Amino acid sequence: MPQLPTIYLDHAATSWPKPEPVWEAMKKALDEEGANPGRGGHRMAREAGKRLMRARMALAELFHISNPIHIAFTMNTTMALNMAIYGFVKQGDHVVATSMEHNSVRRPLEQLQQRGVISVTYVETDRDGTLNLKQLEQAMTVRTRLVICNHSSNLLGSIMPISDIAEIAHRHGAKLLVDGAQSAGLLPIDVKSHGIDMLAVPGHKALLGPQGTGALYIDPSMDVEPLIQGGTGSHSEEAQQPHTRPDRYEAGTPNTIGVAGLEAGVRWVLNESVQNIYTKEWELSQLIMEQLSSISGLRLLGPQLGQPRTGIVSFVSDSLDSAAIAHQLDREFGIAVRAGYHCTPLAHQTAGTLGQGAVRASVGWNTTEQQVDEYVKAVRAICTRD
Ligand code: ALA
Repeated sequence: MPQLPTIYLDHAATSWPKPEPVWEAMKKALDEEGANPGRGGHRMAREAGKRLMRARMALAELFHISNPIHIAFTMNTTMALNMAIYGFVKQGDHVVATSMEHNSVRRPLEQLQQRGVISVTYVETDRDGTLNLKQLEQAMTVRTRLVICNHSSNLLGSIMPISDIAEIAHRHGAKLLVDGAQSAGLLPIDVKSHGIDMLAVPGHKALLGPQGTGALYIDPSMDVEPLIQGGTGSHSEEAQQPHTRPDRYEAGTPNTIGVAGLEAGVRWVLNESVQNIYTKEWELSQLIMEQLSSISGLRLLGPQLGQPRTGIVSFVSDSLDSAAIAHQLDREFGIAVRAGYHCTPLAHQTAGTLGQGAVRASVGWNTTEQQVDEYVKAVRAICTRD
């Protein structure tokens, strides 16, 4: 068995470990409900189908979605975002996004732009991730059909004003797609009151499910073409992909075992409450920021101390390479963080760190103040060596 990190501060990449009920639910699903849901009417297949519906209901409760059939399970946020983007945009559309977007938004948009299908405008945020709503408004054109917005930056921890962005998008006749990769389970999300038309979320980050899980919500009024077509266990006599949801967006055998873990993770979050989880992570982020600020030669990225942010704190050193710092944290201190570009070169460009990358620590459900103290002590030791 490889040596495990003593302190895991990479929850923004994937949460680890998972709460006990998550792996217990996965074991139960594997042992007792291991059949193919929606395929065959035998008891085990029916149990597996019910398991998927219960997980959909848990997600619907968390995101205030009135009918769970409008949630489709995916492998991850990237797949959900690709489904939303490729399924919705049409020839001649204009798309507005921000400079906080992850490559899972940027790359599909760039490919569609290169193919001459769409044009794209990225609205640049401030260095700390603050979006100027006037600039967003100015980017809207008569051809803008979609606005895409990263709810919370995976580099800076900054938080976007989703309701304001939705209001601008809708006033211009566009739809809003929210990338909830770093916010689902950490920030309150209410698709109705926030005005979210499509929401892409990971199952394996703050929702505490296993890797290989994610989901896409599509507002019932929207017509989105399915990215993947095939067997759904329904309307099998028809040559076309069915229009019934969620089948329309879930061709092929789903990850029932993973979804069982996801349901347990979401129930864990509902039980703890998103507000309490956010408060805990915010307090830990403030502790990291306060302590890192006392180390000379470091520049902290993202919102200032005291401002809202998720549990992500990134920094750059004026003398040491970010990857080298992360390597030493791992090898010498057993501390897992993520360095480099975090698949978001646009955000690094905005933060002024494109040439060097950054060291990112991200806390999670099981992070303690003592671990944070150990982390900062280790950073201090590395950055103040002769
Ligand atoms: N996008 C994930 C991260 O920020 C994997 O690490």
